[in-house]
Amino acid sequence: MTAHSLPPGGGFTSGSITQNVDGPLTRSAIFLVLSVAESPDALDTVRDVISDLEGLVKTVGFRDLNGRLSCTVGIGDRIWGALSGLPRPTELHPFREIAGAAHTAVSTPGDLLFHIRSDRQDLCFELERLLLSALGASVSTVDEVSGFRYFDARDLLGFIDGTANPVGPDLPESALVGEEDPDFAGGSYVVVQKYLHPLSAWQGLSTEQQEQIIGRTKADNVELDDAVSGQKSHKTLATITDEAGEHDIVRDNMPFGSPGSGAFGTYFIGYSRHLWVIEKMLERMFIGDPPGLHDRLLDFSTAETGTAFFVPAAAMLAALGDTAAAAAAGSPEPAQASSALAGQADSQAAREATTGSLGIGSLKSVPTS
Ligand code: HEM
Repeated sequence: MTAHSLPPGGGFTSGSITQNVDGPLTRSAIFLVLSVAESPDALDTVRDVISDLEGLVKTVGFRDLNGRLSCTVGIGDRIWGALSGLPRPTELHPFREIAGAAHTAVSTPGDLLFHIRSDRQDLCFELERLLLSALGASVSTVDEVSGFRYFDARDLLGFIDGTANPVGPDLPESALVGEEDPDFAGGSYVVVQKYLHPLSAWQGLSTEQQEQIIGRTKADNVELDDAVSGQKSHKTLATITDEAGEHDIVRDNMPFGSPGSGAFGTYFIGYSRHLWVIEKMLERMFIGDPPGLHDRLLDFSTAETGTAFFVPAAAMLAALGDTAAAAAAGSPEPAQASSALAGQADSQAAREATTGSLGIGSLKSVPTS
């Protein structure tokens, strides 16, 4: 099995090298963004908990295997070096704000992302409860959204969302880091954005106007032709092609909301082999192509958050526990870690400070069947 191939069903299958990036679309999800307290103890706790995330998922998920519970954890740029003691994945950096003439993709804080998925909302809830209890005072919640599958995978604008996701061998090819960054092969970059929709304004458009904005028909989801010039649809602006071909990402957006308080939203989540691909999509959406002709979807969708993370391969995540054990045994690593957290703006410095003690090399020899 190569770095890009996935075990059947993906996820934390014993011996698999990826996290659940390729997880199946589920009925429910929780998107939990946390910030980590500025202390070595907090880092130790986080390392301890996330390195055994697989155990926690089993604890809850085994109570109903048909619930297909999974959890994917992403780690943000601010704590990457301190938490892992490893060099940075090549493209990891904080989410960069993109300010268009009319709309802005804001950049908001977040050190950890937990993407909890299941067909049962109670399983998602239970895993989140146990997770936060284990993390305790080492973290604080920045954002927490419970999403639900809406009819035939529709967003709250009424369109089927997720159709063009890559499938089969194209999925790992699009979502997982490969030979271009071998120490991090099997990992993935993930971007999240919480969008709110002024639904009544959207509903004031005719179905045909809505379809022109999205680039697909509403009832039966058929793709419309790309505009050759002028205003482009969301589908066209989010399609990135170059001499290497088309660059896809894997999305698992979820509607969320509260009709009682008039809140209607889409939680965007995109996994990608290359962070630049998602950034390019966002540039085309917010700045427009040509500049000025932004994605009209944004006139009805306001980005309230925007954060980027790296999802390490499962073996690398589990190996973080070795760092926690070293810290408990009094090795000098924790001090290095805390000073890195205090001032690690310089990623090159972080690279030089790393010890390699997590045994990245062992990733390559993890059994993958
Ligand atoms: C309010 C937020 C969003 C909504 C409601 C939304 C909705 C949709 C819908 C309905 C489609 C067409 C069906 C499909 O292929 O999935 C689509 C396609 C797509 N969207 Fe979005 N989207 C949102 C934000 C984003 C963002 C922020 C990105 C990337 C940064 C993105 C990337 C894509 C891509 C790559 C496609 C497929 C394009 C293709 O046909 O190749 N979307 N989206």
